[in-house]
This record gives sequence, C-alpha cells and structure tokens, in this order.
Amino acid sequence: MNIIKTSSELLQWRKSLADTSVGFVPTMGALHEGHLSLVRKAVAGCDLTIVSIFINPMQFAENEDLDTYPVDVDGDIEKLKSAGVDVVFLPSRDDIYKGGDSFFIYENEISKKLEGKSRPHFFKGVLTVVGKLFNLVQPHKAYFGKKDAQQLILIQRMVKNLNFPITIVPCDTVREHHGLAMSSRNEYLSREDRD
Ligand code: PAF
Repeated sequence: MNIIKTSSELLQWRKSLADTSVGFVPTMGALHEGHLSLVRKAVAGCDLTIVSIFINPMQFAENEDLDTYPVDVDGDIEKLKSAGVDVVFLPSRDDIYKGGDSFFIYENEISKKLEGKSRPHFFKGVLTVVGKLFNLVQPHKAYFGKKDAQQLILIQRMVKNLNFPITIVPCDTVREHHGLAMSSRNEYLSREDRD
C-alpha cells in the first residue's frame, strides 16, 4: 500500500494510470466498520482503491470539535492495508487549502434544510473539500454512506450539476449491536447515551 502526502504526488500517481478503474472513499479517519464496508465495496468494484484521510477544517464551525476530533492514523493505515487498499492519501491542511479558502462549492437549497439549519457552514465545507478531492483523485466511482443521507444527496446532485464524470455509489448503514449507526463521533457517547 502506497501512502501519498501531497496533491502534486497524487496527481503524478493518477497520471501514471492508463485504463484502470479507480474507486475512492473519502474519510476523516478514525475508521470503523462503517468506513470499512465502503472500502470493501470499492476494492471489490474497482481495479484500484484510494482512501483519503483528511479532517476538513472548513466543515467545522468555531464551536465544534475540530481540535478534539478522533485521530488514529496508524490504526487506520493497518485497517486499510488489511482491506486491500492501494493508496492512502493523507494531505495536510496547507496542501488542500494552499490556494486559499475563498472559493467554495455552495448549494443554496437542500443544504439549508435539516442538518443545514443548525450547521449553516457544514455542507459548504463538505462539498468544497469533496470537489477538491474529486479533482485530485479523478475516481471513476466514489463511495458514500447512506447514514449521512443529506450529504449523500448533495454529493449526488453536485456530481450531476457540476458535471463530474464520477458514479456515486451509496452504501448501506452499518450499526452497532444495539442499533446505533456506527460513527467516529460515537466515542463521545456514554453507554447510556448509546442506548
Ligand atoms: O463524511 C465524511 O466523513 C466527510 O464529510 C467527508 C465526506 C470525508 C468530507 O470531509
């Protein structure tokens, strides 16, 4: 498994591939079985699979958990190696936002509803970083969980409206034994919270 840490290296790797189907799973790390189910689907469905691990500051508001978001890069790398991933992309914040952060992908309708009501910054941050990652990785297929239903719908529409030549593959939610959807942030919850 290859670990790539800069956009320029990633673009070079991408250019070297000819007729190879590329599957992409974007993540913020702290990987659990939910992420790994997306990864296994990509490995089964594409010639090469790339997973990004990037905690995207643009999708966190000032009062949110950017500084305490769970991190386990070594554990993640081991899991991805065992799952048969070909490339892990681990960029720095400076690399991803080196052109500044004054350009956005901003959706003006669906992103204002549901989660967007209480997190007005959130989908602008998600769509912007996913758009940047799509341009770098240039995948044929990208895998997203149905758990984040509003995110999934917005990404499906972004790809259609902005003409990204990428197939979005929706993946079923994976749950803990008591029924809670798996999430990296579940570690903030006590036993009672989980129940
Ligand atoms: O679902 C997530 O983990 C993030 O929102 C994503 C898609 C990796 C963008 O940072």
